[in-house]
Amino acid sequence: MKEMMAELTKPGDPSLAPGEARCPGISVPEVLQAESSASDTGLMADSYQFLGDDDLPFSRYTSQEFYDQEMKQLWSKVWQWACREEHVANPGDFQVYDVGPYSTIVIRGLDNNIRAFINSCPHRGMQFADAGSSGTGKQFLRCPFHGMSWNLDGSLKEIPCRWDFPHVEDDEFGLTEIPSGTWGGFVFINFDVDCGPLDDFLEVLPDHFRDWGMENRFVAIHTYKELPGNWKMCMEAFLEAFHVLATHPEFLKSSAWANTQYDVFGKNVTRFLQTFSTGNPNLDQTEAEILGELGFNPDDLPDGISAREYHAEHLRKTLGKEYGTDLSNINTSLILDSIEYHLFPNACFFPGIQIPLIYRFRPTSVGTCVHEILILQPISDSGERPKPATPQKLGVEDSYTTIDGFDLGAVLDQDTENFHRQWAGMKASFKAGQTLGNYQEVRIRNFHKTLDEYLQE
Ligand code: FES
Ligand SMILES: [Fe+2]
Repeated sequence: MKEMMAELTKPGDPSLAPGEARCPGISVPEVLQAESSASDTGLMADSYQFLGDDDLPFSRYTSQEFYDQEMKQLWSKVWQWACREEHVANPGDFQVYDVGPYSTIVIRGLDNNIRAFINSCPHRGMQFADAGSSGTGKQFLRCPFHGMSWNLDGSLKEIPCRWDFPHVEDDEFGLTEIPSGTWGGFVFINFDVDCGPLDDFLEVLPDHFRDWGMENRFVAIHTYKELPGNWKMCMEAFLEAFHVLATHPEFLKSSAWANTQYDVFGKNVTRFLQTFSTGNPNLDQTEAEILGELGFNPDDLPDGISAREYHAEHLRKTLGKEYGTDLSNINTSLILDSIEYHLFPNACFFPGIQIPLIYRFRPTSVGTCVHEILILQPISDSGERPKPATPQKLGVEDSYTTIDGFDLGAVLDQDTENFHRQWAGMKASFKAGQTLGNYQEVRIRNFHKTLDEYLQE
């Protein structure tokens, strides 16, 4: 381990421009180029840009005024992932999505179209359904207060005591529909009726994910966990692999964590790509030793096969069998690696098969948020789609290891256990802001740059 630290703590090359320095050792494109991943144009994309190195003020996280401004100018205007299509699989199924004071009821109509309506009765403002709730079998939406009802296309169906409302025109008393759209099996909404198209907002996502089949996956596990910190602070802990060194030391010898690739594809989409099962390029390891680090018997490694390829083939077979689907053509990076796309403002999509996570972070106050995790598993070759898992709710002190079948529980606990102290430290700091790495933390900087565009409008 000393040799690794000696390599990693050397000062950078002063002849390089800011942001040009990289960790010594093999790069992600070099790893992928040598294997089946090379033909995947999404994975091979490479797009870093230096975005400045000024400190980022802690007040962006801790200030109530900043939080209020986000509520007013960000959440009311930005495209947000609301639910999966399978959460509203059949006509009459609905799912309520909320953030701050904003609430929408996403519902599949009798005509099979998905629409999103403001979750507030045009009569006296009653919500049609509670925050976060879902249901099935609606033929129409009936308000639980006085019983006015609307068809699933939003048009007025009935006003009880119609004689008392001569001033109401039927066709002016429909539900307020907001923009919605789908991509990869996800339903998106926007509370701004004048927003731009979802397709433009998604930037490179549809292109990169074209062959990764996110629509052919189902929600195998779904968790909600309260976190003790500002939503941005908590989310940003998941936008870099730099913290692996101190937070997840069990991965130091098996993955090239400091050689992770960071990409900025646009205002809204960034990515990290961390190769797994490569060993650490700053350690002198044999392939057999790397295989041992992965929990296999080092003597099992056939001549001429890398630990990474051995592990990938093992997963193609075992996960393929477990999921009832043929994974033999899935490239090595997609089967093994931690590949995380962040879509502004609050969602992360991991297309990998070994690490099939989806994250969403929603603020509940300036110093608290909810982190949702979905495990999206490939559906079987029979095409049968199991019902989406019921969300399991965890409190601030609850461990992810209590979630049945969630193999990454201990790792997520390591991440979330940092938040109490980071939040307290952000508020206690005498320094005006945080100092980011030029390369490894560029996604955080890009996120704040885009956030500023909303706040300055
Ligand atoms: S508030 Fe909805 S019917 Fe009265
Ligand atoms: Fe982590």
